[in-house]
Amino acid sequence: MPKKDTVTITDNATGKTMECPVLHGVHGVPVVDIQGLYKNLGYFTHDPGFTTTSSCESRITYIDGDEGVLLYRGYPIEQLAEKSSYLEVCYLLLYGELPTPTQWQDFEARIRKHTMVHEDGRHFLRGYRRGAHPMGMLVGLTGAMSTFYHATLDVGNPEHRNRSAMRVIAKMPTLAAFIYKHGVGQPYVYPNNKLSFVENFLNMMFSVPAEEYVPDPVAVKALELMLILHADHEQNASTSTVRLAGSSGANPYACIAGGVATLWGPAHGGANEAVIKMLHAIGDAKEIPKYIARAKDKNDSFRLMGFGHRVYKNFDPRAKLIRKACYELLDKLDASEQPIFEIALQLEKIALEDEYFISRKLYPNVDFYSGIILSALNIPLSMFTVMFAMGRSVGWISQWMEMMGEPNQRIGRPRQIYSGAAKRDYIAIKERD
Ligand code: CMC
Repeated sequence: MPKKDTVTITDNATGKTMECPVLHGVHGVPVVDIQGLYKNLGYFTHDPGFTTTSSCESRITYIDGDEGVLLYRGYPIEQLAEKSSYLEVCYLLLYGELPTPTQWQDFEARIRKHTMVHEDGRHFLRGYRRGAHPMGMLVGLTGAMSTFYHATLDVGNPEHRNRSAMRVIAKMPTLAAFIYKHGVGQPYVYPNNKLSFVENFLNMMFSVPAEEYVPDPVAVKALELMLILHADHEQNASTSTVRLAGSSGANPYACIAGGVATLWGPAHGGANEAVIKMLHAIGDAKEIPKYIARAKDKNDSFRLMGFGHRVYKNFDPRAKLIRKACYELLDKLDASEQPIFEIALQLEKIALEDEYFISRKLYPNVDFYSGIILSALNIPLSMFTVMFAMGRSVGWISQWMEMMGEPNQRIGRPRQIYSGAAKRDYIAIKERD
């Protein structure tokens, strides 16, 4: 049959029809363009959770969930994880190509220039009580960045947008480390621009004025991998939030704050923290069947954290890479996280053989393992989702840049099915029963 590039929608009630164009991306499932549906047939579409809705056209990231493929700007995640660095991936996501040596030098220098945070911004931390959740502080601090850079907040100006992107990428590690230091009550450590991006972050996190600190190359490599794997993931909940916020013309820092807030939820980035809590709660491999049974019980809200994904119905390719890194890391570092990893491996094995998980295509996702890496690097549990946010900040800002650069960019505004009270008249309080 010849390929027909339209889909005909017939309204059985009226007999009216509408031809909808079918759009083809470079890869992926064809997409039916239903934009004229309301005008032609008088209907909206209904798709809660956006399970089959494409919200935008993007050239940044491609996922094939059935095959377990993840490409950044066309490059397979496996190649980038092996050969690239987080900062080079940032360049790639932002500008679409790997940098030439000159472009790379220029980019690195620009990022280094922006690593410091305005002192007044740092003082905000004093307002947070000790024990405040780091993600709560990060939501506040990222939003607050918009109050410091008034001169470059014209979202219609490409140079301002680019400057904001540099600031977001460069300052995220500084904010994250300051948040940690606030929590543990140690002196804040300023960025050291002689160090690489990841070394600088570890230095700000773990060095103290009283002692010399040299970042462990094993830790640097593991963290670099974790950041690369989290750098972007197309139109996930937090990225869609950033785009939706940005579609109103809001400034980039406010949009990123929205992304951080969305990421915090345990169904999204908060899963890395939830996984470790779950593994500790299991405590012993003997207890695993009890937890599997709970996950399968429809009357119990418990889910196996780190399992399942909206898009991946095959192994999450990021999970494969990070699982391997877990083995390597626990071999090399003081393996205090080894017992948790053993429980994770047994849980994974039992779940992967269970009909409930097989039939629903529930595989371990990236966050099933990322917490184990972060624990082994001595990053405290409450900081895990901040680490995810640090990696994902480049994805958020790249997607925002792409959207803001589009000539026909419009405000995002979904519709709804109204199921509340029908129109009725106001009754004075005295007349109500
Ligand atoms: N444990 C037990 N059952 C599950 C799980 C799980 N982790 N995940 C999904 N299911 C079941 C669910 O109950 C449903 O069963 P049924 O068809 O009988 O009603 C079926 O699988 C489909 O689930 P869904 O909720 O419709 O799937 P979704 O695409 O809406 O949700 C998800 C995806 C990731 C939110 C979900 O799998 C989940 O809550 N996983 C645990 C949290 C987690 O690990 N999140 C991190 C995602 S990866 C990091 C990131 O990029 O955010």
